[in-house]
Amino acid sequence: MLCQRRMQVVLALCLLLVLWQCFQAPRDGISPFPQAPSLLDAPAACLTASTNGSTWFNARYNTTVGPLLTGTAYELSSDVVQWWLTLQGPSRVVQLQAILRQLFTVLQAPSGNMRNPNHCRTCAVVGNSGRLKGSGHGLRIDEHDWVLRMNRAKIAGFEMDVGMRTTHHFMYPESAVNLEPGVHLVLVPFKPLDLQWVASRGEYLIAPPLPTQVLILSPAFLKYIHDNWTQHHGRYPSTGFTALLFALHVCQQVSVFGFGADTEGNWHHYWEENRWSGAFRRTRVHDADVEFSLIERLAAEGRILFYR
Ligand SMILES: *[C@@H]1O[C@H](CO)[C@@H](O)[C@H](O)[C@H]1NC(C)=O
Ligand SMILES: *[C@@H]1O[C@H](CO)[C@@H](O)[C@H](O)[C@H]1NC(C)=O
Ligand SMILES: *[C@@H]1O[C@H](CO)[C@@H](O)[C@H](O)[C@H]1NC(C)=O
Repeated sequence: MLCQRRMQVVLALCLLLVLWQCFQAPRDGISPFPQAPSLLDAPAACLTASTNGSTWFNARYNTTVGPLLTGTAYELSSDVVQWWLTLQGPSRVVQLQAILRQLFTVLQAPSGNMRNPNHCRTCAVVGNSGRLKGSGHGLRIDEHDWVLRMNRAKIAGFEMDVGMRTTHHFMYPESAVNLEPGVHLVLVPFKPLDLQWVASRGEYLIAPPLPTQVLILSPAFLKYIHDNWTQHHGRYPSTGFTALLFALHVCQQVSVFGFGADTEGNWHHYWEENRWSGAFRRTRVHDADVEFSLIERLAAEGRILFYR
């Protein structure tokens, strides 16, 4: 009898000890899941909206340059058209206005100002660098309002590292992939044929029942990046850097993932092993080093959150 009683006391003490441990643990900062990502440290504060720009930033950033073509007649100035028509070598004389008119008979022009000052829109710009492999950034990327991807970005099989959501996919016809319904296609046009490509496929792309919205990046915005940001290094900016600048113009907070070489210095994509795929760096169409140093500067000035 006495023995049973002692047993009960011991059990009760054990139970107390366990309960005490349970309540005590979080206060000591010892969570049962030390690696669990916290949803609370998600990028919530609008870092980029409230701070004043440095001289360096203000000499480059120009909010009056609209990132998208809107279908307004003569929105492209003649110096923009002249520059843009030579991007991929000498070009025939084209009736650009006619192409644009045709384009916006099949496309809906984007409505209003993309940048809403009363809303803190958070955006993740997800590059295709091999440094994303094993990063575990997937959940963090998906927490953003908008998730911007580009070119041949892949998701299936890489969800843990690159996330699952896409709201905007930047590409040009040669880098086109099929998009999930509901994803905005942002075409980065490098030549008149790119616009004709959309004009001729537009009806197919925006077919019901789940329309894919097609947005066209403005050649004026490309020229602005070329003049004011990369400052004529490379022939024209890369799709990735263009997507980043787009975000800087339409989002209040920009997080940047998957840009730059991986930890071994290779410039390959996260879905492939080919370490020679960085050969584009030597063609000098884009100046990857200049673009990367701009990204580092933007991060240093708190304009973007750069996840290495
Ligand atoms: C930004 O600059 C303006 C004028 O120069 C000043 O009134 C304002 O307080 C500054 N804001 C911040 C967040 O530093
Ligand atoms: C910003 O861009 C607009 C339109 O291209 C231009 O008129 C203006 O001069 C630019 N602002 C500055 C400060 O250069
Ligand atoms: C951008 O570049 C143009 C042309 O080189 C220049 O006139 C302008 O002042 C620069 N800065 C901004 C903010 O537009």
